[in-house]
Amino acid sequence: MPSGQPLVDASDIVKSYGTVSALSGLELKVMPGEVYGLLGPNGAGKTTALRILSGLETPTSGSVRVVGYDPVSQRIEVKRRTGYVAESAVLYESLTPREYFEFVASTRELDDRVKERVSRLASVFEIGASLDIPVGALSLGTKQKISVIAALMHEPPLLLLDEPLNGLDAKSSRILKELVLLHTERRGAVIFSTHVMEVAEGMCTKIGIIDGGRIVAEGTMEELRDLSGRKGSSLEDVFLKVTNEEGFIAEAVAKLREGGTNGPG
Ligand SMILES: Nc1ncnc2c1ncn2[C@@H]1O[C@H](COP(=O)(O)OP(=O)(O)O)[C@@H](O)[C@H]1O
Ligand SMILES: [Mg+2]
Repeated sequence: MPSGQPLVDASDIVKSYGTVSALSGLELKVMPGEVYGLLGPNGAGKTTALRILSGLETPTSGSVRVVGYDPVSQRIEVKRRTGYVAESAVLYESLTPREYFEFVASTRELDDRVKERVSRLASVFEIGASLDIPVGALSLGTKQKISVIAALMHEPPLLLLDEPLNGLDAKSSRILKELVLLHTERRGAVIFSTHVMEVAEGMCTKIGIIDGGRIVAEGTMEELRDLSGRKGSSLEDVFLKVTNEEGFIAEAVAKLREGGTNGPG
């Protein structure tokens, strides 16, 4: 069971961009040992939430503690203890992965032990052959692996992964999942965002369904299934129910059936 101090403790976070409200009262608490899946449709506020936790974005209001620190006024402390992987890898395109890792290690003032860690991760992700090629020439999946390795270099207790399986093939996805598990066995915690139900279902100890900038349902897979009020329901059923999309889907299906002329045969 998760215990100890929460690694993330955020309450009533609001984030507005002019008239656009990206987060509207987000509550989030994540304990050591947890894999928390932030599951929500496009535009729900997942990226904004993760950027606020990592100190890249300032909330309009609300209180946020990450590994005990305030990501706005204690950004360095938070950065030292978190590993953040952005939705689409933002890397220096002209550096090679080897140079990039060296650069990250020096900015984080890591000692030589990091080299061994990087080479082990590079080998499990099979990017050895890409280490001396400029990042700009590498595939999306390889860039994603490089971002993941960079996020793990300083062995932070908290990993913040924004749609981490994007661009990864089946084998690399599996390796990343194993890394996540290993991380939580060592009392770290992981928050990752996804709009893919199966990803959340397979990996999380807890799932928070986010919609319109707030958590609309939260719990273990089993607790969420109970929420839907139907036996044997899937996460998809729960998701559509709590995001109020059941009616929309039913209407859309009816419309498609009415159309009925351009089906096969
Ligand atoms: N920098 C920004 N400027 C204006 N609107 C933004 C900005 N970032 C996000 N938003 C808006 O905030 C909402 C939530 O976005 P985001 O956090 O990216 O959602 P998700 O990652 O769940 O798809 C969306 O309506 C998006 O258009
Ligand atoms: Mg996003």
